[in-house]
Amino acid sequence: MKTERGNFSSKLGIVLATAGSAVGLGNVWRFPYMAGENGGAAFILIYIACIFVLGVPGMLSEFIVGRHAQANAARAYDKLSGGKPWKLVGYLGILTSTIILGFYSVVAGWCLQYLFASVAGQLGGDAHYVKNYFQEFSSSAVEPVLWGVGFIIVTQWVVARGVKAGIERASKFLMPILLILLLVLVVASCMLPGAVDGIHFLLKPDFSKLSGGVLIEALGQAFFSLSLGTACLCTYASYFTSQTNLLRSAGQIALLDTLIAILAGLMIFPAAASVGVSPDSGPSLIFITLPNVFQQAFAAVPAVGYVVSVLFYALLVFAALTSTISMHEIGTAFFIEELHLPRRYSAWIVTTCASVICVLSALSVGAFDLKLMGMAVMDFCDQLTANVMLPLGGMLTCLFVGWYVPRQTVSDEFTNHGALSNRFLAAYLFAVRFVCPVCIMLIFLHQLGVI
Ligand code: TRP
Repeated sequence: MKTERGNFSSKLGIVLATAGSAVGLGNVWRFPYMAGENGGAAFILIYIACIFVLGVPGMLSEFIVGRHAQANAARAYDKLSGGKPWKLVGYLGILTSTIILGFYSVVAGWCLQYLFASVAGQLGGDAHYVKNYFQEFSSSAVEPVLWGVGFIIVTQWVVARGVKAGIERASKFLMPILLILLLVLVVASCMLPGAVDGIHFLLKPDFSKLSGGVLIEALGQAFFSLSLGTACLCTYASYFTSQTNLLRSAGQIALLDTLIAILAGLMIFPAAASVGVSPDSGPSLIFITLPNVFQQAFAAVPAVGYVVSVLFYALLVFAALTSTISMHEIGTAFFIEELHLPRRYSAWIVTTCASVICVLSALSVGAFDLKLMGMAVMDFCDQLTANVMLPLGGMLTCLFVGWYVPRQTVSDEFTNHGALSNRFLAAYLFAVRFVCPVCIMLIFLHQLGVI
């Protein structure tokens, strides 16, 4: 069994590939727009608390289940549960990640289109032009659909070639470049005239701006950004080696992920303030802000602006791809092992389901008025997964590991069978038994208006 499954070859490869799953449009697109809609700095503080208090123990739990079971999402839970229906958590994860893959690819498709438009030099113009460009493009009935489905097919192509070959190689050098480029853009954006208002918005908490749903939005965003709650990390952990330090990896990935989200915020909000884009512009925020940065910040040397913009969209597309690969891999691994299908065929099943969601989502925010429960299909999928399914999946995983999986198994995985210190084991167990389930439950109840 073990030898048939792909294995990541190096220590760096594991952390980078899992970090590659975590770092994506969740950080650069979703985090700024969520923070913008929910009051800025105050939201960010709650978000950071959610990442470290609930997210890190949740990640560790998925790692423990995945590495111990060495199997796809559903079978991993099943193996550890002794016939009890915990595998439903795995099924929930497979469903959630396929829905996310669908609407996420719409945004990834937008990025891909922006990459081509910036290569062709079509994004030049004033703030008004940039905004119109987005509106026109996203409301077409054909283009966003083609880019989105195209993105899923590219993902499928990588996934079908297997874990090691596809994912590991490129992450190693592209992730660090993304980080450096973000730093350059933060500096460029903060130097624009009037940028200081954006910096205040991001760093000075104004708790009076917090709205009712902010807790669940922060929790959902934290889980979304860490790729937590769909057994995605569980599937990746099944490729970890027995030497991987689970606690350290979870901590490193959470830190890196948070750092990139904050940098993305520091890149977007000062620029938005400078060109008069409102922070609560919603999902279009980065698309109607960034092209202005590339032009205005590098106005003296347009060639530099051109290169930086092409490079940035290319890296964003790559970051999105390492994330879509991880969503795709969850379902693909499941169908390979459960239906005994070749990797290629099982990848096609996931691609087909996600493409249907992608088409409906893309049309719902553009050409047609497709609604579910009063929301555009895209918003519905986004809200349902991030605010309900991910926290639910994460909570159940914590309960599973905290109360159900034998203590010895947890301790063996936590310490790599005694090779690592168990200093934080008690704190971890306390977190997954009590802190995580109770906090997530309270946030749900608050959202439902019960408390
Ligand atoms: N974390 C990724 C991002 O921030 C998105 C993602 C990848 C994801 N895999 C996931 C979200 C699984 C939820 C579940 O862009």
